[in-house]
Amino acid sequence: MEIKHSKIALVTGGNRGIGFAIAQGLLAKGYQVIITARSLDKAKEAAEKLQSLGKVIPIELDVTDDDSIVRALQTVRQNSDRLDILINNAGIYPDKGVNILTIDRKLLDLTFNTNTFGAIRIVQAFLPLLEKSQDARIINVSSGYGEINGLSADVPSYCLSKLALNGATIMLADALQSQGIVVNSMCPGWVRTDMGGSSAPRTPEQGADTAIWLATEAPRSETGKFWRDRKIISY
Ligand SMILES: NC(=O)c1ccc[n+]([C@@H]2O[C@H](COP(=O)([O-])OP(=O)(O)OC[C@H]3O[C@@H](n4cnc5c(N)ncnc54)[C@H](OP(=O)(O)O)[C@@H]3O)[C@@H](O)[C@H]2O)c1
Repeated sequence: MEIKHSKIALVTGGNRGIGFAIAQGLLAKGYQVIITARSLDKAKEAAEKLQSLGKVIPIELDVTDDDSIVRALQTVRQNSDRLDILINNAGIYPDKGVNILTIDRKLLDLTFNTNTFGAIRIVQAFLPLLEKSQDARIINVSSGYGEINGLSADVPSYCLSKLALNGATIMLADALQSQGIVVNSMCPGWVRTDMGGSSAPRTPEQGADTAIWLATEAPRSETGKFWRDRKIISY
């Protein structure tokens, strides 16, 4: 079961939507992929759908729960002594019927814990494995709603959480530069998933493209940047 040769990637929230498409794309490029999901059953279901493409390992991981992160790390360690790619994709968009004047602390807490603090805690936890890679890359799946010019008073916790995730990308890139670990944020565009809804113009595969490119082909000299359609955009 131990993985020694091909590169290994971990995707959070990999059971559906853009995360699933990223996992699929990485497998098609020959990467081994750890699909994580809040429930082990969902992770296994997704892994079964993709198993014809290559080696997929399903693992339970709730990004808001530190015990779950530690358990996931232990399971990854049983399968691999290193991690090459970390895709922080898991996210929620819960701002229905609230705005910046009415949102309560509980909802702000939940969104930040998932979209921002989850990504930071996962980087912290998996860093010892990423440090073992010769080409470690971290990709944070952000959003145009996290751009300074994209902030909307009617999407308060989501916008602020992605703005802060972009801040975390800049800080992590700085903190990890000396170790040669590349960290970038990307926006998938508006994508037809449970989150994006059926009117969105992009397929999950189109939404996944820049994350896959950043994980596999983008120049390693670019770190701490924000990307859409394989191009750098302004924070
Ligand atoms: N769709 C868009 O138009 C769009 C645009 C810009 C950015 N994005 C970003 O792209 C990423 C993926 O979005 P999507 O459209 O694919 O959304 P989605 O279809 O709603 O999928 C979200 C994924 O995140 C997982 N997740 C949520 N909370 C979690 C937690 N606490 N721990 C672990 N996993 C958790 C979900 O797991 P469950 O199945 O267990 O709920 C699911 O796998 C998100 O970060 C989102 O903000 C999406």
